[in-house]
Amino acid sequence: MATQLREAEVPAVDPLDVSRPELYRDDVWQAPFRELRATSPVHRVEHSDFGPYWSVSTYKPIIQVESLPDLYSSQVGGITLADFIENSTSDVRMPMFIAMDRPKHTGQRRTVAPAFTPSEMVRLSGNIRTRTAEILDSLEWNKEFDWVDKVSIELTTQMLAILFDFPWEDRRKLTFWSDWAGDIELVKTEELRLERLKHMYECGAYFQNLWNQKLGKPPTPDLISMMMHSDAMAEMDQMEFLGNLILLIVGGNDTTRNSMSAAAYGLDLFPDQRAKLEGDPSLIPNAVQEIIRWQTPLAHMRRTATADTELEGQQIKAGDKLALWYISANRDESVFEDADSIIVDRPNARRHLAFGHGIHRCVGARLAELQIATLLEEMGKRRMRVNVVGAPERVAACFVHGYRKLPVEISKY
Ligand code: HEM
Repeated sequence: MATQLREAEVPAVDPLDVSRPELYRDDVWQAPFRELRATSPVHRVEHSDFGPYWSVSTYKPIIQVESLPDLYSSQVGGITLADFIENSTSDVRMPMFIAMDRPKHTGQRRTVAPAFTPSEMVRLSGNIRTRTAEILDSLEWNKEFDWVDKVSIELTTQMLAILFDFPWEDRRKLTFWSDWAGDIELVKTEELRLERLKHMYECGAYFQNLWNQKLGKPPTPDLISMMMHSDAMAEMDQMEFLGNLILLIVGGNDTTRNSMSAAAYGLDLFPDQRAKLEGDPSLIPNAVQEIIRWQTPLAHMRRTATADTELEGQQIKAGDKLALWYISANRDESVFEDADSIIVDRPNARRHLAFGHGIHRCVGARLAELQIATLLEEMGKRRMRVNVVGAPERVAACFVHGYRKLPVEISKY
């Protein structure tokens, strides 16, 4: 136990251990990743809170790993650096298809994919625009408020409530559950793990009730109904049902929310780029990609090697875990010139890896893009500029990369 170790035996903090939550809380992750990319793109970290792992920090090997899903499994160890704790009363397996390998992954992904087709996006677009307009019109001009709470959380939570046909007045429960589910730092104490588990069960029970209400009714275009009426998912056990629900809640919530916060924060950091965008709304689709690249709302996904192999000259052993740092690949100078800056008309912004790559590439990417683009368009129509008036409060975690609070004022341009 750490408390029984003499001082000299306690491993020193490894400056290249990029899993440390304070790097993200304090926004100082850029320098260690710059060093990793330059000196050791596939780098072994022996001691971390998550045990030993390989850091993959440049663009090319991440593509390589994600293109070999049988060799680099999502299922064996899951998709975050945090390991599942076997034989524990405070941890429980909730299988979800992001953490499954083929062939099971293929069938379950196919079940929800129809909710995110281009034609579904057209169907949802009017509703997204109306709600975005309503939220923007409810904001007070020239008066400080928290953009995360009033805009980013509200918009994404409303979207999820619609996707799930979730009771409107209870929709902030989705935010609450998503925050608990997505925070992998919580696994570090038994007490927090137990509390998380309690909330996940509450979430499960709530959704089980919604499911029961739909039993025997004709299909409706929401995700619960789609899951119920599909062959691949209809036979899921309760844990699998819960796992996939949580996947969709977290997948669609924290990520889009933090991109919307990044749109406000990042454009304020680069006012010349904001002016360029304000002057030319046709740049919005590209700016959306650029903001997602710059933010990278999920800093990493994990894979576990299923056999001994080699990656960029490093010997990887079966069972080793690898963190694919999208956050770093999206700052890879050999792919993105002046990568730390937002450049709204960056020619290759679309090449970012924030949605991953390969068979697990984000199934909700189109929906996220649509929501962020609509937000920028509606802000443009109102000539609304978001001015950041205080330091943001950031999430202290190496998985969800985002903001807890962002004090702003809005003004006309
Ligand atoms: C998968 C990021 C929005 C649902 C993923 C992955 C990433 C990601 C990195 C894993 C890719 C991999 O392992 O290769 C993002 C970002 C978003 C976003 C940055 C917003 C800017 C959404 C939305 C939804 C969603 C809106 C749904 C409502 C999912 C699901 C998966 C996934 C279900 C699992 C796909 C699979 O395993 O086949 N996302 N996501 N995501 N995302 Fe998203």
